[in-house]
Amino acid sequence: MPTQESLEQEARRILLANDRGGFTIPTAGLYPFQWLWDAGFTALGWMQFDEGRAWQELKTLFRGQWENGMLPHIVFHRPEPTYFPGPERWGVAHIPPTSAITQPPVVATFVRWMLEQAQNQALAEAEAKSLYPHILAYHRWFKRERDPDNTGLVTVLHPWETGADNSPAWDQALARVAVDPALPPYTRRDTAHVDPSQRPHQAEYDRFLTLLEVYKRAGFDQLRLLCECPFRVASLLIDCVLHRANRDLLWLSQRLGFDHQAEIAGWLEASQQGIEGLWDEEAGLYFNRDLVSGEPIQVGVSASFLPLYAGTASPERAERLLHTLQGWASQVRYLVPSTDPQSPYFEPQRYWRGPVWAVVNYLIALGFREYGHEQIAERIRQDTLELARRAGFSEYYHPLTGQGLGGRAFSWTAAIYLVWSRATSAAHSAL
Ligand code: GLC
Repeated sequence: MPTQESLEQEARRILLANDRGGFTIPTAGLYPFQWLWDAGFTALGWMQFDEGRAWQELKTLFRGQWENGMLPHIVFHRPEPTYFPGPERWGVAHIPPTSAITQPPVVATFVRWMLEQAQNQALAEAEAKSLYPHILAYHRWFKRERDPDNTGLVTVLHPWETGADNSPAWDQALARVAVDPALPPYTRRDTAHVDPSQRPHQAEYDRFLTLLEVYKRAGFDQLRLLCECPFRVASLLIDCVLHRANRDLLWLSQRLGFDHQAEIAGWLEASQQGIEGLWDEEAGLYFNRDLVSGEPIQVGVSASFLPLYAGTASPERAERLLHTLQGWASQVRYLVPSTDPQSPYFEPQRYWRGPVWAVVNYLIALGFREYGHEQIAERIRQDTLELARRAGFSEYYHPLTGQGLGGRAFSWTAAIYLVWSRATSAAHSAL
């Protein structure tokens, strides 16, 4: 078994090897560009041994920000033939080219943590100050273009936006998307890098790409897409991450001497109610919601625990969530499977339909810890470290066998290892 020291070295080596000069790719071949929430987690990893490089990761990410404030989920800093759909397929006129959808907005929260923990406070303050207006513009975009009716829940237009691409939570909503008969032909690249049994099904891919054509036809007009897009869901991953990000944006606003507290507090009031409206008393869990049918999506997924990370849940609901997760724990060896292991949709090796993801574990553990459930938080941290010890820094892991799955030498898994390996608990203050 490798030592902690050698694993830390290996984790640092992965970030250095995946560094493309100011941005870090998730893994070579499979994901050769900069991804939004990967960049956030990776910055936390860089923070452990090169603070300047950590800040640079976020600055480079914002080169992709649109004029309307949207922060895209992929920034195509330079051409790479190993990935599909690339910039030509997205057809976005931006320099550098980007995708046209977003991803869980972790940045405000991570900027706060980086500022709180930085050795170099002068640098941190300057960087946080220059990022702040861009983060504010991004969060305003969410409110203006994705929740114009102030429901407290953001409308998500693509499974890729949720970060959990092929979660069974999206099955029904995605089934409603009729595959475009004129869909331009394409060749998947992902299955050339990773065994197809660990990747999304072909039927899902056709629909993922059909949605791209829908956006292009609408000229990427968000308000039009809120009516016309056949896929519309409320995603716990987005809403909970955004809620916490707004709490931290409010903190940053105060700390850095900006004056947007009242505006942000208004958003928080709405999203507090929006998220708590997703609670299901019988299941003891939060469910995503289909915004076309208006119905809850009754599949337990790892994001169902994230209202703890958001901080919206009551202590009683936190207790119920603990109980629910203990039930899941009796079915698998490693926490936290991405889908309820008792669900008929559970597939332990297929991407977001069962495997364990280190980054989601990080958010869930932090949530439990903040509600005083230290033991389960520590169990999640230990499981994550053990998976890395046994199977290296994989993209995701089999929750029963611990086998490493998907891409290898994966940046955000290495980053989480660096953040957690020396910590004495699952606190972010371990940074
Ligand atoms: C996959 C994941 C997504 C991640 C990306 C890059 O698309 O589903 O969450 O950001 O890969 O790692």
